[in-house]
Amino acid sequence: AVTRTFSIIKPDATRRNLTGGVTKMLEEAGLRVVASKRIQMTKEQAEGFYAVHKERPFFNDLVSFMISGPVVVQALEGEDAVKRNRDVMGATNPADAAEGTIRKTYAESIEANSVHGSDSDENAAIEIAYFFKPEEIVG
Ligand code: CMP
Repeated sequence: AVTRTFSIIKPDATRRNLTGGVTKMLEEAGLRVVASKRIQMTKEQAEGFYAVHKERPFFNDLVSFMISGPVVVQALEGEDAVKRNRDVMGATNPADAAEGTIRKTYAESIEANSVHGSDSDENAAIEIAYFFKPEEIVG
């Protein structure tokens, strides 16, 4: 089925001028950008977005990293969008990511791993709604 997922191009990637490179890989994987904006996340916004990781030892560093520069938030549409996006992103840790994936190609470290993608349809809907109003999404 055609579904949607949520993606973030993280500060390590925007800093290196990789918004186009990452987006090209997403598009070539069969995903369509149906909403996109470049934002500077606030600390509160990043803490809320990553609330499920609040008790993890890397939480504070993760929030600092995510507000260290601009990010590009996107809603992506395609056949089985969540899985399709996760496949093209590759493993969270670029050291474990397969050849040809975004993280293998571009990521610097497990923290500065260039992209975020939703892990389920349920979370995709929550994450899209966290950053986009319905009228900002044009399918
Ligand atoms: P993301 O998909 O955005 O979700 C949580 C993020 O935490 C993850 O990608 C990584 O960038 C970051 N992170 C930093 N350290 C770790 C770690 N040890 N395990 C998992 N995620 C980590």
